Amino acid sequence: MKGIEVGYIIKEASPEHFYFVIDPSKRNLVSIGGILKIYIDEIPYFALIEDISSVAMEEERLFEYKAIEYLYGKLKKPQYMICGKAIFIGCIRNGVVLSEKPQIPPLPGDRIYIPSEDEMEKLYSFEDKRLVVPIGKINLLKKEYDIYLKIKELVIRHTGIFGITGSGKSTTVAHLVKELTNKNIPVVIFDIHRDYIASFDNVIIITFDEKEKKFLESVLSERGLKGKVVVGKFKPRILKDYVEEILGVSGKQAVHVFKLLSKLLSLEPETIRELLDWLDEKTSNSKVNNILRNTKETTIESLKARLYRVSDWRLFRRNVEDSGEDLLYLMDKIMDDLRVGTTKMEEDFSFDGEEVIMKTVESKVNVVIIDMYPLSIEEQRMLLDILLESVYTKYKRWKFEGNADVLGIVIEEAHRFASKDVKTSTKISLIAREGRKFGLGLILVSQIPSKIQEDIISQINTFLLLKIINPRDLEFIRKTCPYLSREYFEALTKLETGKCLIVGLAAKNPAIVKIIKDVEVGGAEEDIEKRIIERISQP
Ligand SMILES: Nc1ncnc2c1ncn2[C@@H]1O[C@H](COP(=O)(O)OP(=O)(O)OP(=O)(O)O)[C@@H](O)[C@H]1O
Ligand SMILES: [Mg+2]
Repeated sequence: MKGIEVGYIIKEASPEHFYFVIDPSKRNLVSIGGILKIYIDEIPYFALIEDISSVAMEEERLFEYKAIEYLYGKLKKPQYMICGKAIFIGCIRNGVVLSEKPQIPPLPGDRIYIPSEDEMEKLYSFEDKRLVVPIGKINLLKKEYDIYLKIKELVIRHTGIFGITGSGKSTTVAHLVKELTNKNIPVVIFDIHRDYIASFDNVIIITFDEKEKKFLESVLSERGLKGKVVVGKFKPRILKDYVEEILGVSGKQAVHVFKLLSKLLSLEPETIRELLDWLDEKTSNSKVNNILRNTKETTIESLKARLYRVSDWRLFRRNVEDSGEDLLYLMDKIMDDLRVGTTKMEEDFSFDGEEVIMKTVESKVNVVIIDMYPLSIEEQRMLLDILLESVYTKYKRWKFEGNADVLGIVIEEAHRFASKDVKTSTKISLIAREGRKFGLGLILVSQIPSKIQEDIISQINTFLLLKIINPRDLEFIRKTCPYLSREYFEALTKLETGKCLIVGLAAKNPAIVKIIKDVEVGGAEEDIEKRIIERISQP
């Protein structure tokens, strides 16, 4: 029994792909993303349906409206073929699934079949269900097949989630993070648009001032979510490493400005304001006065101008009331918490008649969200750079101490941080190249993958490709991704929201799936839609 026959090969075929025509009575059995089977030398080969369309056969010969009206209107005889294109994904030989393509192409006239349930299971499911997470579903013969990704490959061999805006990237991330954390795999998300702040239970959110903290806490409690919001601040000494990028000092002045800044930073100021006050000579500090006395006025002015920009950044304390924990210390503590899987959450104070008791409870924690929303792009880049460095150092140390652990790092709008001309890209590139050895993996999300540095993309081993239209992005991914042939381009431009092509190491075979949507993300448009309807209905 070869299975349900649905059509024939037509037009042309190669060891990579073939065209086919479908028996019209079976047309409900095939759709884009479905799988076809074809026998070559008695061996079943399988192919992913990339495109399907109906083609009218007669019109071009009739060339006349009257004749078409007669054919379709009177005779009621539609003249069409349902044709499509499929791409080989592999075969089953002696019961084993191989990603082998046929040596010789099939021939026009060869029959095509629908694979059996057993064959579908072989093609897409993994033996050890503990090591995989479900990502989406394929529909075939009215049956839904779950498609899984291998956790290890997904995380530490790096994953790219690419697609145009609104194609479903964040929804995909949210689902994956939920699945990973259900399996106790910790994830840090660099959240740019506050997409994820109300998506998960048991989160730690790092934000950058008390006002934001209050807001985030209210969001969590509104949704009935457990979580802890913490405020982090950098010490001004961090500026030393970022003079050029952040302060934009270059050229002749740079050396002098840098020297002055270094000297002032060595006095351990608490806020940028303090630095500015020193420069304004509102100080009785003799050490400061000494430094300023030996410095040219132009250098002082130059540094002052730059510090004014930084003085309203939230990453640093703006005044004495504007406090927060030291970010590096905070991140270090959080990584320790992720390691054991719990964190201390301070509960409300209670009063037992004599003294105030503070109950401290331990709570599960697997997701850390870095709330980058209130930060400028420069701050975001600097923050990412510093936090990635601290994560890398810590996981590397753990590895060498014989305590290796694993962590997924989600970077939204990855093109902002991983393009050639920004400093952050060297850290991302480092983790892309070496993170695997220390259990660190990247999940890069972008709508413009072609802006990401080539050597970073070439380290990505699993691609979840949602709708992509831009030929530059398509060509760029093909060039850097050994798993994607040009044959898939047509399918990628036509994917509907929430559908994606999966290729690469974490998947058993390439598949076009409908991604499971089980977590709400902030970027959704439903509220805007509701508001438009509200506005339209107003008199
Ligand atoms: N798998 C899915 N099933 C059903 N609906 C989906 C799915 N994925 C996304 N959507 C819907 O599509 C819309 C856009 O999704 P999402 O915010 O995830 O896209 P995005 O690619 O992250 O967009 P952006 O580039 O703007 O960040 C949302 O309203 C979401 O509910
Ligand atoms: Mg998004």
